[in-house]
Amino acid sequence: ETIDAGSLRTPIVAVLGHVDHGKTTLLDRIRGSAVQEGEAGAITQHIGATAVPLSTISEMAGALVDPTDFDLPGLLFIDTPGHHSFSTLRSRGGALADIAVLVVDVNDGFQPQTEEAIDILKRTGTPFVVAANKVDTTPGWNPQEGQPIQQSLEAQSDRASSRLNENLYELIGDLSGKGFSADFYWRVQDFQSNIGVVPLSAMTGEGIPDLLTVLMGLSQRYMKEEMSVDVAGPGVGTVLEVKDEQGFGATLDVVLYDGVVREGDTVVVGGRDEPIVTEVRALLQPRPNAEIRAEKQFERVEEVRAAAGVKIAAPDLDEAMSGAPVRVVRGDDEAALEAVKREVREELAKIEVDTAEDGVVVKADTLGSLEAMANALEEAEIPILRAEVGDIAPRDVTVAQTAKEDTHKVILGFNVDVLPDAEEALEHADVRLFDDDVIYQLVEEYEAYVEELER
Ligand code: GTP
Ligand code: MG
Ligand code: NA
Repeated sequence: ETIDAGSLRTPIVAVLGHVDHGKTTLLDRIRGSAVQEGEAGAITQHIGATAVPLSTISEMAGALVDPTDFDLPGLLFIDTPGHHSFSTLRSRGGALADIAVLVVDVNDGFQPQTEEAIDILKRTGTPFVVAANKVDTTPGWNPQEGQPIQQSLEAQSDRASSRLNENLYELIGDLSGKGFSADFYWRVQDFQSNIGVVPLSAMTGEGIPDLLTVLMGLSQRYMKEEMSVDVAGPGVGTVLEVKDEQGFGATLDVVLYDGVVREGDTVVVGGRDEPIVTEVRALLQPRPNAEIRAEKQFERVEEVRAAAGVKIAAPDLDEAMSGAPVRVVRGDDEAALEAVKREVREELAKIEVDTAEDGVVVKADTLGSLEAMANALEEAEIPILRAEVGDIAPRDVTVAQTAKEDTHKVILGFNVDVLPDAEEALEHADVRLFDDDVIYQLVEEYEAYVEELER
């Protein structure tokens, strides 16, 4: 059961919403995994991607989906972080998406990042459905594991039903406050002008058959034309992660959102200093239903069509940056190559962190998390002297030492390693290192240190 792309592009479904409203748990339930439990601080801090084949969808949706009704190969789900610092990653996820699921905790209702997600979807004109999650937390709920929501609602007491309805009507009201006419999805006829609300539980699975049915219906009905274009064009993607793999050296985990990439293709990737030009040595595809960030068993393939998650093995990728664009070059003339390099440079130029005359040194594992760090520091009014993607190197220690104020002689490392010679440099320098794998904790640790110094 693999995704056979045929001639249609697999739709990209972004999952957006406020922190802890259940985005990753929802995807875990669909793909049968436990990614959420392995996350540092139980928060998502990177974009993820999972290809879910039509066979899985029709199995989960049961009687609600007849696979012979569909000629789309499946859906590529993009998980996004809900923590407020990660505005760029949310916005990138929203921009990549053909359709979206806005996850809202029925008890919490609209929260700041729910509103932010809606603004992104409005701006990008992305059709979406609302997953009214955590219905199982309604007092007196009688859970109906994995069942369609109608069955589940019939099994509830009057009291539980009316409690849930109160929350759902509030949600529908909040959506209309944002300018969307919304209703329970089973009452919606035209999903382009109305927003369907699907009550569900990522925990018990009830209502998930309904969500998958609505998503497949939406993609099939409204997106088929869009999905038919440009399937054979040069591949375009975003680097999720740069990872060392046995036998391949540095490789790229990529979300390919347009076109095709083949073995032997020339690709241009955003690098630390200059765009990297290299040739694809191997394409490695994660198994269906595997989150690419967690996958260990890849299958070697000759070509990959959008939308898909794929690991690209090629020489000279050590300086590639997570979060950077990757583009296939078609045609072997110099002009084609230069045009693609220019596009990559322009995309990178859009991602910039404001630095100051004096401040702290920041290192992070991806461009997205670097921007999130910059957002969090700006909010805390902590200036940045230098911000870069990559492990902590001796050079960073030297730069931190040049900071004027003592409270700024600091390196903040998010999800990065300290290189051995930097370790040594730190021993001899008057520079403090803070490293953590949860952004807001990192900022809090630094603030506590400053408070102590100033006491
Ligand atoms: P971020 O990625 O950090 O923005 O959070 P998220 O939206 O991915 O939420 P996550 O999946 O991490 O879930 C947050 C918490 O809510 C976890 O403790 C989940 O177990 C819990 N949770 C998620 N969905 C449900 C649900 O349907 N019912 C109940 N009872 N708990 C849920
Ligand atoms: Mg998450
Ligand atoms: Na979370």
